[in-house]
Amino acid sequence: MKSSVKIYDSAAETSLKLADDIIRRIVASATSEKPFSIALSGGSTPELLYSMLFGEMADSVPWDFVHLYWGDERCVPAGSADSNYGLVHKYLRDDTGLPAANIHRMKGEEEPAAEAIRYSGELSSTLLLRNGVPVIDLILLGMGDDGHTASIFPDQIGFFNSDNFCEVATHPVTGQKRITLTGKVINNAEAVVFLITGKKKAEIIRQILRGDPESITYPASHVKPVYGSLDFYLDNEAVGML
Ligand code: 6PG
Repeated sequence: MKSSVKIYDSAAETSLKLADDIIRRIVASATSEKPFSIALSGGSTPELLYSMLFGEMADSVPWDFVHLYWGDERCVPAGSADSNYGLVHKYLRDDTGLPAANIHRMKGEEEPAAEAIRYSGELSSTLLLRNGVPVIDLILLGMGDDGHTASIFPDQIGFFNSDNFCEVATHPVTGQKRITLTGKVINNAEAVVFLITGKKKAEIIRQILRGDPESITYPASHVKPVYGSLDFYLDNEAVGML
């Protein structure tokens, strides 16, 4: 597994550099006339990245080659302030040329178990498979203060080894139901990129990047793409303790 750690002075610079990287990957794929699939994360960290990628930088992206997926979604309506799709939709301009059919959202408004099954089918029917598992070109992940990633929380870390492509997760504090990709899909990606900023996550990042034995309790430490690359985009605050 190829991996890298890229560190920048601020969350803004980190997001900008990641936006450049993502655009380069999309353009390279489009140059080969190949579609590019990207699974997006939720939470607050990627908002700046999305405002760049889908806003001010959107004109440099051949969006007709792009297929958007999600790494996880809260089981709420698309219009909810909690929706990860809603976070992207807030910035996605109408004039990008991204076909509506290329937006493969997890439907948070549907019954969770049924949606996990439906979305697994959408992944299988719209992506190339490797050993029967959908291959996503780039999966963008964040990391929570407890080391969760996507919506795989420490008390459900077994989802990394699920035989399913998606599972129904439960937020350990709020009890909110979520749909999440499992480790089977995450670790089958061509590229996984973590975007992590802020000092609150520095201790966990330190443990994960140093391979400390206790980091195994953090779901984010189980992201190990079998065939693909793993890159960390971090700001100085997130690496304060390295
Ligand atoms: C979600 C995300 C989740 C997120 C982390 C970090 O649905 O919340 O996919 O995995 O990346 O919780 O969230 P912040 O960026 O808000 O710290």
